[in-house]
Amino acid sequence: MIKLPGLIDPHVHMREPGASHKEDFDSGTSAALAGGFTIILTMPNTKPPIFDSDTLDMVLNAASKKARCDYAQFVGAGPDNAEKAASLADKAAGLKMYLDSTFGELRLDDMTLWLPHFEKYPKNYPIVAHSESRSMAAAILFAAIYDRPVHIAHISLKEEVLIIKAAKEHGIKVTCEVCPHHLFLSNEDIPLISNGHAGRGEVRPRLATKEDVDALWKNLDVIDCFATDHAPHTIDEKDSDNPPPGFPGLETALPLLLNAVSESRLSISDIIEKMYSNPKRIFSLPDQPETWVEVEENAVYEIKAEDQFSRCNWTPFEGWKVKGKISKVVLRGETAFEDGKILVQAGYGRNVRG
Ligand code: DOR
Ligand code: ZN
Repeated sequence: MIKLPGLIDPHVHMREPGASHKEDFDSGTSAALAGGFTIILTMPNTKPPIFDSDTLDMVLNAASKKARCDYAQFVGAGPDNAEKAASLADKAAGLKMYLDSTFGELRLDDMTLWLPHFEKYPKNYPIVAHSESRSMAAAILFAAIYDRPVHIAHISLKEEVLIIKAAKEHGIKVTCEVCPHHLFLSNEDIPLISNGHAGRGEVRPRLATKEDVDALWKNLDVIDCFATDHAPHTIDEKDSDNPPPGFPGLETALPLLLNAVSESRLSISDIIEKMYSNPKRIFSLPDQPETWVEVEENAVYEIKAEDQFSRCNWTPFEGWKVKGKISKVVLRGETAFEDGKILVQAGYGRNVRG
């Protein structure tokens, strides 16, 4: 048995408010605990988006009643909320800026709209940028100009990891995360995931080439965090004519990464660094006393959507055999997950910025 600290996922989409049939704080935080996460940071591209104090209160109210693990909520950067968003910084996980193709309404195309956010958002919390390729380079330039931390969400490309490496070497305050699906899948896997339904392969950033995937593995030391970008959409929505992009990830991330440890592609200390110490430091998250995760490192099992707590009812990793199973999660002294069951009540979770 291996004992890990309670893991932190800095990139999770609950669908509350607005689309609880995909996920809400109850199902989503159950999925988090089953996946070994005891803190999740939740994204603002809900319906309505979280962009001011009323919408932040609305989502935090739902979370306080339903969440089973601890959490904090991002505020979204809109075209004219820079001052308001900055005033909410102490109550928020951070500021999320959508600078590229995504799901939902929060997208800032024009770089003049980025300026007030970079100017005003307090520097003790990061701005998280969904920015790909050249807009990622632009976000890093903004971090340099304003001398403030920027965290690049879900990097997927060779050019991205190489630019971040160079930016770090020059002292720019940039950190980044990579998702398990960009480490374990490439665009060559899309036919297999799709199984005749092209929508299942849709995700932003898209699955990249094998060369990109290899570059991420080769530069793991540049990558600060593993984040799931858990983006649940139901199987019917994924198989529809207008499939929304996104993969669920909370319940498969740690097993896939433990499997990589069993194949000597990764070490347990990489997992602790990128799923606990680094996200804790980057997002200034508090200690969780008496909190840990127990893992049976030699247990082999098959990933199946039907075993998951997420409401989306599918996974791109269906049928994968992995070595490394989460057997128990203890959160603030209470056993929260054991032998496949969630044992803490809805409402047990706390807002870590509360
Ligand atoms: O694939 C994605 N899904 N990329 C995003 O940027 C948003 C996310 C979602 O919310 O579904
Ligand atoms: Zn996301």
